[in-house]
Amino acid sequence: MDNRKIPFGPTYEEMLHPEKIDPQIRERASKAIQENEMDPINLFNITWKDESNQVRKIVLPKELTNVDANIVVLLGTYFPSGSHKVGPAYSTLIEGCVDGEIVPGDHTILGPSTGNFGIGVAYICNLMGYKSVVIMPDNMSKERYERIRKYGAELDLTPGTESDVILTLQRTYELKKDPRNKPLAQFELMPNYRFHRYVTGNSAIEAVKGIGNGRIACFTSAPGSAGTLAAGDQIKAVFPEAKIAALEPYECSTLANGGLGQHRIEGIGDKMCTLIHNVLTTDFVTLIKDDDCVRGLKLLQDGTDVLVSAGISPEVAESLKNLFGVSGICNILGAIKMARHLRLGPDDNVVTIATDGFDRYPSVLEDLGKRNLELENYVLARWLKDIFQAEDEKYIYDFRRGDRKEQLFKQKEKDWLPFGYKKEYLDEMRSMDFWDAEYDLCKKYDEKISQSR
Ligand SMILES: Cc1ncc(COP(=O)(O)O)c(C=O)c1O
Repeated sequence: MDNRKIPFGPTYEEMLHPEKIDPQIRERASKAIQENEMDPINLFNITWKDESNQVRKIVLPKELTNVDANIVVLLGTYFPSGSHKVGPAYSTLIEGCVDGEIVPGDHTILGPSTGNFGIGVAYICNLMGYKSVVIMPDNMSKERYERIRKYGAELDLTPGTESDVILTLQRTYELKKDPRNKPLAQFELMPNYRFHRYVTGNSAIEAVKGIGNGRIACFTSAPGSAGTLAAGDQIKAVFPEAKIAALEPYECSTLANGGLGQHRIEGIGDKMCTLIHNVLTTDFVTLIKDDDCVRGLKLLQDGTDVLVSAGISPEVAESLKNLFGVSGICNILGAIKMARHLRLGPDDNVVTIATDGFDRYPSVLEDLGKRNLELENYVLARWLKDIFQAEDEKYIYDFRRGDRKEQLFKQKEKDWLPFGYKKEYLDEMRSMDFWDAEYDLCKKYDEKISQSR
């Protein structure tokens, strides 16, 4: 076998519409996801859709959310490797391959990350035959390191936690001086934007068919790399009335007001405006308290009786287990908050994303147990009221005004000029044409991927 051959994987169109994959390949892929996680055919399982081509989602019970609007959550836990971050990892690698920039056998892949992207990179590199190094802070949840090691990547740890991601970028910057090292730079590279605008955005649009008025009134996502937020660009292109809210930890409110604190929501709030964040479509920045997300996760995971007492059927309460991680709860709390703030009604849909599931957070709930003297049901019942159902519209900032956009452009300059990006390039991002042109490249890459097979 020619080990310099470009690996075989899906196009953007096939990730959005897996029914377009050759049926024999699809069948092999469906078997592999149950039987052999490490079979490269699993690349064809990178999609939001299930075997009947329906978007995997849950509509939250209103007894939980206490708002009239429908809160629709897309579920990332079913992606190979357990989170949708595998999508941007694959897209960035395959684009590099078909552009001839990343050559199997010649190059080592670097994955700067706080976890899930690193897990995605380790997994994808294993499937596609590349050596990989994941660069991440040394204080993240232990489940993350275990997975990365299991997928065969090397770990290069920098000091700190979630909010110290800039140290991983600096380390990557050093390592990439060696031309054999190729970073999959999720914060900077447009395949992350393309994957989420094309695959996630269009999947979200399909997901609301038959729910409420079948449109999307609001999309909420807490940016790490801000890749997921790009789904909002496609949602706005199809439903121009849709509002996009970027969520941040209250403890690390970088976009809202330059805040740079430590927080507990792994995967988001990385103390920067990422290069691939299209701030033109960010209508609101909304802050969510980190411990509310951890407590909210505890309630959905272990508070089934409390949810049933609140009027949720036992089956539905049970079905809420295992689907969310801490940032998924953050996105849900942001969706509820925005539904209330925008006065949305029963015909309206708010879409958000659960990046991953509970499998990588048991240690986070153990830690919560150590930090709280009591976790009895009456405490969880109070959290249901105080966290999910509070009529609280604090910390919602309207970013549609020119001065607010300027604040984000300036934040981006502060964050990216030091890494060698030119002001002219950043200025091009002030026009929607820049982003639409990037999106249009999906077609070109799909042709290249198809030809390389
Ligand atoms: C758990 C989790 N939630 C949310 C995000 C943020 O997603 P994005 O990088 O697309 O903004 C990440 C990113 O790694 C993540 O790992």
